[in-house]
Amino acid sequence: MSPKPIIAPSILASDFGKLASECQRIIGHGADWLHIDIMDGHFVPNITIGAPVVTCIRPAIEKTADGKGIFDCHMMVAKPEQWISDFAKAGGDLYCFHYEATENPRECIKLVHDSGMKAGIAIKPDTPADVLYSILDDTSDPDYYPDMVLVMTVEPGFGGQKFQQRCMPKVTALRDRYPEMDIEVDGGLGPSTIDVAAEAGANVIVAGTAVFGAPDPKHVISILKETVQKNVELWKTRSKV
Ligand code: DX5
Ligand code: ZN
Repeated sequence: MSPKPIIAPSILASDFGKLASECQRIIGHGADWLHIDIMDGHFVPNITIGAPVVTCIRPAIEKTADGKGIFDCHMMVAKPEQWISDFAKAGGDLYCFHYEATENPRECIKLVHDSGMKAGIAIKPDTPADVLYSILDDTSDPDYYPDMVLVMTVEPGFGGQKFQQRCMPKVTALRDRYPEMDIEVDGGLGPSTIDVAAEAGANVIVAGTAVFGAPDPKHVISILKETVQKNVELWKTRSKV
């Protein structure tokens, strides 16, 4: 099955004083998932929110049969294994941890799956994509297989940074090797950078500032989605070459 375009606005760029209504507002504008940036002050030099806040916003957002309302938790934390059960209880759907933060990424994927959540694995701009190949090539046990890969397009830690185009060859390499994988990009995405990201092969698009800061978020979300959709066929032809 071809990957679907999924737009996941980062709530880091929302008004935290009215977080639940901000989440509802952006889902109402056509967002598919909510990207929730969790930072612990160790893995990255910033602190955001933890599981108690996720618990509070969960009842405000309905999950629908067509996959809307998924809580995509981007765990920028030093010990990802430590928070799995808290986020599962809080209502997280996808627990995306950093490859760089764990000694045993395959075991971490298994623990996430055991908790009932989907598992994502993220790499920072300087981490090569091929570190993931041994994990992604081994399809022998679905418990140990990630549901998504996140290629960071900024250094994790802060919203509002400039998109790093140098990360695109990693997205292309992953898309060509794993045509059906959900590949997420995160950092500096918006109408001016979506073309290169979608062409490279990303189908899950995180955008904070570009969506929450827009006068017309609905319009921005539809541009991002349509641009990914236009590129799905192109990836197929490319991977056959
Ligand atoms: C950065 C975060 C991103 C960030 C994206 O550490 O992981 O999700 O909030 O924000 P923008 O779209 O503003 O770069
Ligand atoms: Zn993020």
